[in-house]
Amino acid sequence: ELRLPSKVASQVILTFPRSAMIHDDLVAPINDQITSEAYASQLYLQMSMWAEDKGLPGASKFFRGHVAEEMDHRNRLVDYLVECDAPVRLQAIPAPTAEFESLVSIINAAYDHEKMVTEQIDALASLALDRRDFNTFNMLQWFIAEQREELVLFRGIVDYMKLAGFTGGPGDALVNLDTFLLSQCHAH
Ligand code: FEO
Repeated sequence: ELRLPSKVASQVILTFPRSAMIHDDLVAPINDQITSEAYASQLYLQMSMWAEDKGLPGASKFFRGHVAEEMDHRNRLVDYLVECDAPVRLQAIPAPTAEFESLVSIINAAYDHEKMVTEQIDALASLALDRRDFNTFNMLQWFIAEQREELVLFRGIVDYMKLAGFTGGPGDALVNLDTFLLSQCHAH
C-alpha cells in the first residue's frame, strides 16, 4: 500500500505575504504537490533498484527514466511558485516501500500511483477554477496532459501483461515483459 505525505504545509505558508499572482488557497496544496512529485521520484527510483536487484535491465531502465521525469514535475511547480512570488516550503518525503512481490505487482502499483496523482492534479485544477485562479489553472493544463500520457502508458503495459497472461514468475513471459519495458523507455 503506497502512502502519500500528509498535508502539513498550510499554517507556515499562510503567514507569508500574499502574492498577487496566485490565490492564497492554492499555495499550500501546490507545496503539497511538490512533495508528492518528489515522493513519486523516490518511489520510481526504489522500483528501479528492485528491478536492478532482480536482474531486470528493461524494467530498471524504464523506472529510472521516470525518476528524472518526476523531478521535472517537481521543478515545474517550484518554478511556478517562484514566478508567482509565493513561498516554497519543502516537506519530509516518506520512504517508499522497497518490497514488491513481482514485476506485475510493481507495474500495478505504479499504475495505481499515477491514477492517484491524476486525482491530485484534478483536485488542484478544480480548486483553481473554483477560486477563479486562472494563472494556476493555466499552469496545470500541462500537468493534466502529462497525467493523461502517464495513464495511457501504464494502461498499455497492464494490457500487455494481461495479453501475455503474465503472472510474475520467472520464464519467457518475464523476459518478454522486461524487453517490452525497455521498448517503452523512449515512448514518453
Ligand atoms: Fe508526476 Fe508521474 O506524475
